[in-house]
Amino acid sequence: MTTATTATPTTAITNIAALVTNDPSLGDGPLGLIRDAAVVIDGDRVAWVGGTSKAPATDNRVDAGGRAAIPGFVDSHSHLVFAGDRTEEFNARMSGRPYSAGGIRTTVAATRAASNNVLHANVGRYVAEARRQGTTTVEIKSGYGLTSQDEARALTIAGAHTDEVTFLGAHIVAPEFADDPAGYVDLVTGPMLDACAPHARWIDVFCEQGAFDGDQARAILTAGKERGLTPRVHANQLSHGPGVRLAVELGAASADHCTHLTDADVDALAQGETVATLLPGAEFSTRSVYPDARRLLDAGVTVALSPDCNPGSSFTSSMPFCIALAVRDMGMTPDEAVWAATAGGARALRRTDVGRVSPGARADLALLDAPSHVHLAYRPGVPLVSAVWQHGTLV
Ligand code: NIG
Ligand code: FE
Repeated sequence: MTTATTATPTTAITNIAALVTNDPSLGDGPLGLIRDAAVVIDGDRVAWVGGTSKAPATDNRVDAGGRAAIPGFVDSHSHLVFAGDRTEEFNARMSGRPYSAGGIRTTVAATRAASNNVLHANVGRYVAEARRQGTTTVEIKSGYGLTSQDEARALTIAGAHTDEVTFLGAHIVAPEFADDPAGYVDLVTGPMLDACAPHARWIDVFCEQGAFDGDQARAILTAGKERGLTPRVHANQLSHGPGVRLAVELGAASADHCTHLTDADVDALAQGETVATLLPGAEFSTRSVYPDARRLLDAGVTVALSPDCNPGSSFTSSMPFCIALAVRDMGMTPDEAVWAATAGGARALRRTDVGRVSPGARADLALLDAPSHVHLAYRPGVPLVSAVWQHGTLV
């Protein structure tokens, strides 16, 4: 313990029935599960993890009352900078109309027309909503501006809420360029990238029929890499296509969706460094077939889960909901799904400081109103997250 050398008060959370650390050296199995555990927080970091009976003396003590605790969820994929919603589109879908990328245009119009204050308030609202459900790290994309100015504005607003900001100027071809998609790619790889690169860590492309093809996606991601951005790709969501293999080839941090995969796609993911981020909220909300997580896991692919919160294809911020879907409909065990929603998300964001509860990690934890993390899938739809620490603070 380092209490003597630090000014911040230390806090021990004790009497945790089952603690998921995601550090196999600390406990059982891949989740590093510790029973009757305690966690000591010093400032914004985890200082100590172990059995309650061995917990060192601290300034404060919080009795978890036999609840389970997990690392705060790491949501590596969201589209929170938007205005308006698409209730009517959802209603029509539930009457049989299929989802298409074209609906994005509705949100682009509403977002362009919204003030900075409205967009800030919306992002804050959904970040807080996600936090109440245990999410302590969130990536946020642009993609509903589609002009240099509107995309840079979206990234600046996102950056006020997170360090994980993604430039998605290539969400769809902007309406003004409907007859000149090549001109739009020139804009995205030229002036728009100039305006946006300073405000982002990542670059993303929606590689799909009705959005950008493989050649366009390659040009955009390559231009982003040259400006210091790391790729992530919306890949193989609605149909088979080149997105996943392109993501692996370009060293993308993640290929997101991965719903329609060939054996070659799975092999590429298994051999590369790219995480497969599965977004079952999108399949739920578009009434489509879920991605086959079991196939990916059995092939040795690293899998992450995210709600993909956006007003079109998946208007949920709830990671517990995604865990339940992944377990029920995608062949994941509860342990695999909880890992994917925490450590998997951290891998997808190339972060080592989050997604685990072990010494040196950021003190981000969710306490569950349940004796085990398995209840996240076993008790779907029940708000089980009873307390959240973020950066060492009870929020
Ligand atoms: O991840 N696929 C592209 N982007 C979002 C949907 C955006 C929208 O429909 O507004 C997604 O599903
Ligand atoms: Fe998305």
